[in-house]
Amino acid sequence: MSVAKPLPHDAAMLHVTGAARYVDDIPTPRGTLHLAFGLSPVAAGELTALDLDAVRSAPGVVKVLTADDLVHDCDTSPSNHDEPLLATGEIHFAGQPLYLVVATSHLAARRAAQLGTPQITPRDPILTVEQALAADSRFEDGPRIYQKGDAETALAKASRRLSGQIEMGGQEHFYLEGQAAMALPQDNGDMLVHSSTQHPTEIQHKVAHAIGRPMHAVRVETRRMGGGFGGKESQGNALAVACAVTALLTGKPCKMRYDRDDDMIITGKRHDFRISYDVGFDEAGRITALDVTHYTRCGWSMDLSLPVADRAMLHADNAYHLRDIRITSHRLRTNTASATAFRGFGGPQGIVGIERVMDHIAQELDLDPLAVRRANYYTDNAHRPTEVENTGTAIDNRTPPDAEADLSSRGAPPVPTGKPAIPATPSDVQTTPYQQPVTDCIINALTDRLVESADYDARRAAIGKWNAQNPLLKRGIAITPVKFGISFTLTHLNQAGALVHVYQDGSIHLNHGGTEMGQGLFQKVAQVAASRFGVSPEVVKITATDTAKVPNTSATAASSGSDLNGMAAQNACDTIRDRMAAHLAERYQTTPDQVRFADGMVRIGGEEITFAAAAASAYENRVSLSATGFYKTPDIEWDRIAGHGRPFYYFAYGAACTEVVIDTLTGENRILRTDILHDAGASLNPALDIGQIEGGYVQGAGWLTTEELVWDETGTLRTHAPSTYKIPACSDRPPVFNVTLWDQPNPAQTVYRSKAVGEPPFMLGISAFMALSDAVSACGDNYGDLQAPATAEAVLAAVGRARK
Ligand code: MTE
Ligand code: MOS
Repeated sequence: MSVAKPLPHDAAMLHVTGAARYVDDIPTPRGTLHLAFGLSPVAAGELTALDLDAVRSAPGVVKVLTADDLVHDCDTSPSNHDEPLLATGEIHFAGQPLYLVVATSHLAARRAAQLGTPQITPRDPILTVEQALAADSRFEDGPRIYQKGDAETALAKASRRLSGQIEMGGQEHFYLEGQAAMALPQDNGDMLVHSSTQHPTEIQHKVAHAIGRPMHAVRVETRRMGGGFGGKESQGNALAVACAVTALLTGKPCKMRYDRDDDMIITGKRHDFRISYDVGFDEAGRITALDVTHYTRCGWSMDLSLPVADRAMLHADNAYHLRDIRITSHRLRTNTASATAFRGFGGPQGIVGIERVMDHIAQELDLDPLAVRRANYYTDNAHRPTEVENTGTAIDNRTPPDAEADLSSRGAPPVPTGKPAIPATPSDVQTTPYQQPVTDCIINALTDRLVESADYDARRAAIGKWNAQNPLLKRGIAITPVKFGISFTLTHLNQAGALVHVYQDGSIHLNHGGTEMGQGLFQKVAQVAASRFGVSPEVVKITATDTAKVPNTSATAASSGSDLNGMAAQNACDTIRDRMAAHLAERYQTTPDQVRFADGMVRIGGEEITFAAAAASAYENRVSLSATGFYKTPDIEWDRIAGHGRPFYYFAYGAACTEVVIDTLTGENRILRTDILHDAGASLNPALDIGQIEGGYVQGAGWLTTEELVWDETGTLRTHAPSTYKIPACSDRPPVFNVTLWDQPNPAQTVYRSKAVGEPPFMLGISAFMALSDAVSACGDNYGDLQAPATAEAVLAAVGRARK
């Protein structure tokens, strides 16, 4: 069976040979026009005049549009309707698009876009947390507060107390393929849009509004992205809307791609956070009370900031059971590019907060930080597979992936209908700060295993010895855990659709609502489809995401791509397979439960025919070989205002052990070794999952170490190219990098008992930061209070503080 095989990415060969087609590689029809935005040079003020004469007369320029030229509502916000395509008078950030140049070539458009002279009456921009708080510049009326127990009373009673604060920077997505879109006008002003987007339905929706047509007039196609990382959930809207509007106006195909500097200046990034805490604890390091406050700079528009800030709050506990806790979140509006989704969606920031608290307590008590972490872990729950399946199919997903026997259409025992049995929550089950019972915890066992495989205890002792002998270089080591909630917190997004055709030659066409951004979703879902029909994955044609095939999709985000689309595809496949089985049973005078699909063959009682022959037979007997599939995640509900419910279907777990070395004279540092044990449930594809874990870790470590965004006092982003913004290179990956998958299936009823893997490993990168913090601790008796990103400068400053 194809599921669980470590197959390469379906487009691996195309990626490495440069043959994979991205939006910019689609051959353009003759007469295609190219677009570029003219940007605001100031961060805040009022646009009083816009002289575009030089732009209009520049070579190759066909048209120049301002907000006044837009006929329909060209809002590009995914949430709050607060992002006009072009500035309407108010200037909100340096880099805000003011006008749109339409030219005969990409370069002509870009050159002309430099030539406008806007008159802006500047205002003092609101840039910092302090400025935003002072001006009460925020989204929502006031801070959002989630609490459990009584943090205040518990703090007053605590035997020991500490308070502190950590700053963590934002992060540029640095997808290798920049934002891009192309719109091709069709009959009657209908529009076909190619977009590098994680969210084709959102593009369809925004484009339909912008051209004043219903959604049915717009078709959006996305074959693949060269990375999205959350940066293509909403940030592609402006390009697609710009292309569609100009395509309608000119009748010509229109294409837009941001140059890298424009991409970094215009589009939103990860939210930077300040987290302050007041914690009470006992002599063993057990937390008895926590009052934690998040301050986040959201930028000028709302975008996805509210759910991002919510998810940060929902991960303020990480893997730790906290009884009396208050979490306060300030969502600050600033004159900077609007911060947006980025892998982890606020979760990483929330987790860094509590991990810093663990570290600080350990330093205070002179304990190994791992001992403090373990003292606070949620208790493991013994695996108890649910008794009743609710997948609506006759297939038992608990079947070990290599077992073919149950691959029958109706061969498995009858499935009881009605509500699935959700095990009652015993009163002793621990709950999160938002009152969700934690019933699938494995973090203790997982940590035990990692401690052993990484040889943590011996290495910690060796590092202690080494540090005692080496005055200039200091080593550090840290194990940090991850518990990450899986599901969109906006409950209705947890749905997906699929469309499957079996052709009369037995080849299969697979389509679903998920998008491919390098994570391997298409291959995983193809493996599911192949397994349902008992054929090899080459039989399944992977096709581009297309709003005309599967409608009303959610963004491929929240790591839920394979959970949702895998199930929807399974559902569609099973519908067809059941029809085929019924037909074959009739033809061969047997019952459908005697029909088995495996190894490219179909066995019907004693007979055996190829899958292709079975498809042909079904076709000739007028059996429909096409079906849609649908899935919605069960058992979730969430009240984001009150801050309680069961927002997550399950949790994904993992832990990482990182060893680093720092140079105390320069602050320079590097990772020496990383060991990871990560829980992907029963992996749909271990090769792809390990790739996600490696990539996630490196990206997470990059966020907290070398990647630094710098805005100057005028609100201008000074780090808008790879020359000034340092992402990890191949040579920055750990020279020793051991990644292992946890070997247990997901107790929740996911597709083949797998777990989402896209985002959780990102937060394993936090262990690199905590290892640096540990190395800083070896420099002196004071708490170094390392801030993120831990650039060489930041490490050096922390070393100085530790030695004071
Ligand atoms: N992996 C690659 N190679 N490229 C990406 O853009 N995005 C990440 C993660 N892994 C990303 C990636 C993010 S932010 C998410 S939410 C998930 O993939 C989305 O895909 P999935 O739900 O199919 O895991
Ligand atoms: Mo991922 S940040 O949910 O696109």
